[in-house]
Amino acid sequence: MISLDQVEKRYEQGGAVVHALRSTTLDLRGGDFVAVVGPSGSGKSTLLSVLGAMLNPSAGRVVLDGTSVYEIGVAERARVRNERIGFVFQNFNLVPWMTALENVELPLRLYGGSRAERRGRALELLEHFGLADRVGHRPSELSAGQQQRVALARTLVTRPTLVLADEPTGNLDPASRNLVLQTLTDFRDDDRAIVLVTHDPAVSRAADRILTISDGLLEESKAASEIGLASDVA
Ligand SMILES: Nc1ncnc2c1ncn2[C@@H]1O[C@H](COP(=O)(O)OP(=O)(O)OP(=O)(O)O)[C@@H](O)[C@H]1O
Ligand SMILES: [Mg+2]
Repeated sequence: MISLDQVEKRYEQGGAVVHALRSTTLDLRGGDFVAVVGPSGSGKSTLLSVLGAMLNPSAGRVVLDGTSVYEIGVAERARVRNERIGFVFQNFNLVPWMTALENVELPLRLYGGSRAERRGRALELLEHFGLADRVGHRPSELSAGQQQRVALARTLVTRPTLVLADEPTGNLDPASRNLVLQTLTDFRDDDRAIVLVTHDPAVSRAADRILTISDGLLEESKAASEIGLASDVA
């Protein structure tokens, strides 16, 4: 589905060079549920942005279903992003003046369909995440964990092929966390892959591949099943 071929990302800051991502080769397939773990500043968000067609690498190629996403025009890249990739940002990035419902409906505007249909789908997901009684609240009127679930609903509402989520359970209690993990597990299918950045061992246990990143260097640990971690969520 998506592959990184010797991808690197360097930042140059006042003469010093930060190797946010060292030469990385990686192949993600439909059905993959991948956890990315590593200390703060190790390059996790950088990896996610590069995978998400949002950050040009300094070297290498990123190929999504045959399209080299940084070798096409900006407009075409934006279209690939809108149609194929769902991103959950570390800081949610909800639109502050819109209600929870309007935030979740927003990406559906690119897809046509009637207003009632869009509203129905958005409501269904918000209800699924236990937010039926918060749909009219603006982000500032929601707790961090509630905003996180609104952001996730907004990402899933368009049914993207590749879900990239930066610490999507960081603000959640165990019950909400398990609901999010179960939802992502159910969402994944042969044509859809999920990549999560996480510090939570319960989340990486649910994944079937674990990528460890340290100072920009990515390593794949054994598949979760091989190290005796069942992929059950409860
Ligand atoms: N725009 C930038 N300019 C210069 N350096 C940057 C930039 N963005 C990130 N970095 C550096 O690149 C490295 C990787 O950053 P990144 O945000 O990917 O880390 P992270 O693993 O997501 O950390 P965290 O767990 O704290 O979110 C860090 O050392 C950071 O300081
Ligand atoms: Mg980060």
